[in-house]
Amino acid sequence: MTDLATLELELINAIGGAESVAALEEVRVAALGKSGSVSGLLKGMGAMSPDERREQGPMINGLRDRVSAAIAAKKAELEAAELDARLQAERVDLTLPARPRRKGGVHPTMQVMDEMIALFAEMGFAVAEGPDIEDDFHNFTALNFPPKHPAREMHDTFFLKPDPETGERKVLRTHTSPVQVRTMMSQTPPIRIIAPGRTFRKDSDATHTPMFHQIEGLVIDRDIHMGHLKTTLQTFIARFFELDEVQARFRPHHFPFTEPSAEMDIRCDRSGGKLVFNTGDDWLEILGCGMVHPNVLKNCGIDPDEYQGFAFGMGVDRLAMLKYGVPDLRPMFDADTRWLAHYGFSAFAAPNPASGLS
Ligand code: PHE
Repeated sequence: MTDLATLELELINAIGGAESVAALEEVRVAALGKSGSVSGLLKGMGAMSPDERREQGPMINGLRDRVSAAIAAKKAELEAAELDARLQAERVDLTLPARPRRKGGVHPTMQVMDEMIALFAEMGFAVAEGPDIEDDFHNFTALNFPPKHPAREMHDTFFLKPDPETGERKVLRTHTSPVQVRTMMSQTPPIRIIAPGRTFRKDSDATHTPMFHQIEGLVIDRDIHMGHLKTTLQTFIARFFELDEVQARFRPHHFPFTEPSAEMDIRCDRSGGKLVFNTGDDWLEILGCGMVHPNVLKNCGIDPDEYQGFAFGMGVDRLAMLKYGVPDLRPMFDADTRWLAHYGFSAFAAPNPASGLS
């Protein structure tokens, strides 16, 4: 047997015997690496006479090609086997029950947010969003708050440091109403949106936290009037509290961005220490609403002679407390796992109007 045939046999045996990708790589380096046995033969061809090279060249190149092919084939085989072994070792049995102590839950505010989005989506509202950090224009000016007017203070606004170049002071949005402005400026009517999100006011007591959540609603179209507003909100509130109907009153109020403005109250009885709807002489304030002020439409590039609309805004955390009997607002933001375990919802019980909300 020639030296070349012996070397080939040895290498093919070594390749066949490699038990891992790493062992195979050692064989490859010993044969085809810089100072490998096959590389040595290839380099040696340079010193051969033309006749020798004509005779030996094809044999050495052929050896190199067969060894390379054998290594590639073995490598594919070993990699497939290693992947199989890993898949076996890291296999997760999805049918095993979850560990109960690791169970996560959905916060009541987020649950109620999802319920509201589901109900409004069914009524044809799309979800719109805006930034938590707003500028004065979107949070106040476009919404018809006069410059320097005390109404701006009314909101106990958190101001950011003024921009050193422009002097502009951004704010943490005090309500979700700036999303009305962003939507009207970027879309053409008909508009039907809700805007859920975080809002901020410098206020902290038993019924106020500096961060809370609101859902805003906005409808703009031709011939929209208070009747549409009342029916939309009464239908929504009844469905939200899972009642056939609610007895509501719309009490005159003032917001700079709506005219007329109202607060919606629903009839209830709290005398027994429990909240019961549609009976008694008590009224529960639920939300603020009104017809979009013509100045706001103009500020957003919409012709008030052609289009009208209504808007509303409500506190999501407060409605979550009312619906699920949470007595105190502040622990809602404490991130205490015992509180969350008690008041939280299963992540699998996604609310939808067909299968029921809660
Ligand atoms: N932005 C108002 C608030 O935060 C609520 C509201 C929204 C009122 C839309 C009327 C119309 O108090």
